[in-house]
Amino acid sequence: MSSYDSYQRDAEEAIRAAASLTQLEQVRVSWLGRKGILTTALRGIRELPEEERPDAGLKLQSIRSVIEQALEGRQQALKHVAIEEKVARERIDVTLPGRRLPPGAYHPTMRTLRRICAWFARYGFQEAQGPEVEDDYHNFEALNIPPLHPARAMHDTFYLSDGQLLRTHTSPVQIRAMAEHGAPIRIIAPGRVYRCDSDPTHSPMFHQVEGLCIEPGINMAHLKSVVTEFLQDFFEGREIEIRFRASYFPFTEPSAEVDVRHENSGWLEVMGCGMVHPNVLQSSDIDPLQHAGFAFGMGVERLAMLYYDIRDLRVMFANDLRFLSQFSGE
Ligand code: FA5
Ligand code: MG
Repeated sequence: MSSYDSYQRDAEEAIRAAASLTQLEQVRVSWLGRKGILTTALRGIRELPEEERPDAGLKLQSIRSVIEQALEGRQQALKHVAIEEKVARERIDVTLPGRRLPPGAYHPTMRTLRRICAWFARYGFQEAQGPEVEDDYHNFEALNIPPLHPARAMHDTFYLSDGQLLRTHTSPVQIRAMAEHGAPIRIIAPGRVYRCDSDPTHSPMFHQVEGLCIEPGINMAHLKSVVTEFLQDFFEGREIEIRFRASYFPFTEPSAEVDVRHENSGWLEVMGCGMVHPNVLQSSDIDPLQHAGFAFGMGVERLAMLYYDIRDLRVMFANDLRFLSQFSGE
């Protein structure tokens, strides 16, 4: 019998000592669990001489209910403490001064794009927009790229299931602007374009700025001087070399691509350009005998790479704050 008395004392002590709900649960299991001390003792009753069994049973059952009550009481107390602690921890001091959010800044791509458009706005180029989900007519056919034309292979087009596509360049905006306004016209059209393409100088989504100028008497010399002056201003008087490299686009004739080299960089192609092809003017109901025009499409990320000395254009799409915060002063 006397060992039974120590059960109650020991159990009560352990319950008092439990400092958390987890510890309390461990105490409960060690006494009342399947292999717990009290459970084992209760099971042991049947080993006792028969006359001792009723008393032992009563005694152990009463100890059990004392332990159960003590567990319950302690559990309530610990829960209360836990709630108090949580409330104290989560208290908000509304009198503390607010935390300043660091100011945001334009992404280098957007900054570059805005600088480009602002420069051309000074020469009367109005901003135009077109959809990123385009149809074959505007992205290819009206640009003198009929079905099966080999130039389509250069574009690595993302096609959509309904026959539409993600525009591969901003040149379809030329077509839309000519259809809407006719000639003469001077537009600049910034936007996203898409190609199935990825390496240090190619991204599957990138930005172009399209330019189109159609007026009587426009010739290749105008194109060369506008592009050269733009690039010199864009690089703010830094030492750069510019070269016009003869190229081919179905929608311009003659066509060129423009490469830039500055300081320690190698040559990097920054745009395609040329004199608008008569077929393109005709498909937009503009008389090629009365009007002539030039057009260009520049790669915004490429210009930003050169301007900010970025070696891999993919960092511009990674949204790494360590990269972005370098531009926060701008
Ligand atoms: C074109 O997209 C023509 N539409 C440009 C044009 C417009 C020519 C008007 C004549 C008249 P191209 O595929 O070369 O051309 O792309 C133009 C520029 O976009 C390139 O010079 C380059 O600077 C940039 N570019 C091309 N592909 C990528 C890419 N995957 N990632 C980043 N920049 C690119
Ligand atoms: Mg090219």
